[in-house]
Amino acid sequence: MESQSSSGALKRQIEAQRLQLLSTSTKSIPAFYRNVEEALDSRRATHSLFSILQNNWQTSLAIDFCSNDYLSWNTTGLIRKAFLDELGANPGFSVAAGGSRVMEGNYAYIEETEQEIATWHGAQAGLIVNSAFDANVMVWSALPRPGDVIVYDNLVHASTHEGMERSLAIQKTAFEHNDVKAFRMTLSTILESSPMIKQGRRSILVAVESVYSMEGDVCPLLELVEIAEELSGGLGNIQFVVDETHSAGLFGPDGAGLVCELGLEDEVAVRLHTYSKAMGACGGIILGNATIKAALINFARPSIYSASPSFPFVAAIRAGHNMLGRPQAREGQGKIQQLARTFFESLTSHPLWEQARDRGILDVPLASNWEERPFLTHIVPVWTRQNYLYWLLFHCLAASFFVLPVKHPVVPIGQSRLRVTFHAANTVAQVAGLVEQLFIWVQEVLDIEQGHSKHQATSAAREVYAWMAKEGLTGFGLV
Ligand SMILES: Cc1ncc(COP(=O)(O)O)c(C=O)c1O
Repeated sequence: MESQSSSGALKRQIEAQRLQLLSTSTKSIPAFYRNVEEALDSRRATHSLFSILQNNWQTSLAIDFCSNDYLSWNTTGLIRKAFLDELGANPGFSVAAGGSRVMEGNYAYIEETEQEIATWHGAQAGLIVNSAFDANVMVWSALPRPGDVIVYDNLVHASTHEGMERSLAIQKTAFEHNDVKAFRMTLSTILESSPMIKQGRRSILVAVESVYSMEGDVCPLLELVEIAEELSGGLGNIQFVVDETHSAGLFGPDGAGLVCELGLEDEVAVRLHTYSKAMGACGGIILGNATIKAALINFARPSIYSASPSFPFVAAIRAGHNMLGRPQAREGQGKIQQLARTFFESLTSHPLWEQARDRGILDVPLASNWEERPFLTHIVPVWTRQNYLYWLLFHCLAASFFVLPVKHPVVPIGQSRLRVTFHAANTVAQVAGLVEQLFIWVQEVLDIEQGHSKHQATSAAREVYAWMAKEGLTGFGLV
């Protein structure tokens, strides 16, 4: 437990769950604050209050299996150098954009960068925005026209939901995650019930992600596009929006994304890329044609009512983009594949693997048929029974392997999991070490379940519980 107590991360997270109970105990506090605290207490009561105390992955104690710095350009400093070089090449830059994009906040550098990135991705135009979250809100609030219908994979990101809520679409329908048959059925039903769409006077807009952030699986995009083409009969009334947030920098030629990998640049109307994950920078870009860009500038409210992304911000994006295709980027992309292979090989060849999976003690859905996948993702969810999840987390942390617990509201109640992410700077030995620790933990659980242990909790969990008892804190669980 040395690593946890010295970083204090776990301790602070647990302390944050202490109920405030201001809503009932302190009448002198204004109702406004008491009511807000009451809402926070409902999170604390299930030990699911988020705190912003932790920043584990950049400490020397942590082995980063949790951050979005997939290519490790932050940990290695590569992006910092590229960013400073970009600033140095433009010494007269202005820090402020001076206004929103449509109100004096436009400037040559942002336009050049957008065009350069768009052309590289085989798109006609690009619009740089403050984040991929903003990008989704802008796309979904601005592009659907009255009478259009949105069809979305039921695991799309919160930002897509945020945008869809504000959209003018008459209907939003989810289809089962990555289920090609369900997708076909959903499209057919809508086409049958909407003559305007069937005649090609209105559209279905499809929302999917190339890699799903909490599942680590890949969208069967080619099949979905083929189905849409078949059902639309050449009318172009089914259009795709692909969120490439978790494939950007990693998938496709030099990290250009899944759409480029599949050669679907002309079939997909809109693509979203972020620079805040693999590229280790910030911000996002929306790729499409000139019509899409004009619509976003005119109908997406941040284009009008929020300051344009500033020069330093765009310089970080350009620095990240310019790194793609360089040897360090290619090495990193290859390294992640090697690490993922190591993980699956060590996991599935372990003598306890099948028993652990059959008993529901450890499961990694992506491990099934992993050898058949031409490209492995850097995101791997690790499942155990819900009541064991924190035991497994404590065990990993105690070994200095920082993995991410993902819980409600990010995933539905009852579907909490650990998320492991691989990074270019991780080593094969670290990945093998992580798998070894997973099975040391599995053995402990088996011993407890089969009555071979005198304990009722695993060793790391016992240490945490002992400390919590000393501090007067109650149980730490998951919803
Ligand atoms: C699928 C998806 N889209 C969009 C976003 C938002 O990305 P950004 O950090 O650029 O706002 C995320 C964040 O993790 C995501 O997972």
